[in-house]
Amino acid sequence: MDIFCSCFSFLFSFVILTFCKLTNGKVKSYIKNYNGNYAKIQKCRRGLKLFKENETEVKLAMYPNPVLRKKCEDVLHFDDNLKSTIRRMFDTLYAKKVKALCAPQVYINKKIIIWNGRYEKRKEENEKIFINPTIIEQSLIKKKFVESCLSSPKIEGKVGRPVIVSISYFDICGNKHLKVLKGLYARLFQHEYDHLNGVLFFDRMTQNERKKVKAQLNQLRREYKTDQIPAMNNIAKGD
Ligand code: CO
Repeated sequence: MDIFCSCFSFLFSFVILTFCKLTNGKVKSYIKNYNGNYAKIQKCRRGLKLFKENETEVKLAMYPNPVLRKKCEDVLHFDDNLKSTIRRMFDTLYAKKVKALCAPQVYINKKIIIWNGRYEKRKEENEKIFINPTIIEQSLIKKKFVESCLSSPKIEGKVGRPVIVSISYFDICGNKHLKVLKGLYARLFQHEYDHLNGVLFFDRMTQNERKKVKAQLNQLRREYKTDQIPAMNNIAKGD
């Protein structure tokens, strides 16, 4: 009988303890907001945000993907969503080891350009962001220089562009800025700015320059088509 009693009291205290733990846990992870509803406290939201920001697996749009030919839309909301989108774009920039990147290259149809001229140094002060940019004025003097693009690998050629451009753009908080860009920065900006209007660097090559890369462009088109075929075949097999 004694054994039965002690067993019962042990079980009873275990049930009480578990109940206390559960309710206590519930109180801890939920908080009442001003509308009187229970909402999960910030800890969960922060966790989600952190996950998004650290996510480096961003797929790149490759030529001749039609997203690269679409005109991008203005950014309207300067919110947390924009910040995490831009963070992910920078993660991609560092992963691909390139100086500049624009939103359509990562399947986002918005006017966003980012760059870090010294991409090997992952410092925030080197990171530049241009939202809803426009070219206000450009120099009459043009220069030719060899360009390449992450979305059309193995292709490079000389492109003539104005040496100086004056631009306007918005920062991540929605403040408008004016800036004059020269030399390599002017070129980088114009290359990315063209992307936002669905223009690719080889569109601006002279006919002679274009001829030199014709075969490689055709190759990219073939690769893109054959990339699509296995997926379609798989669907057909599944049926
Ligand atoms: Co490009």
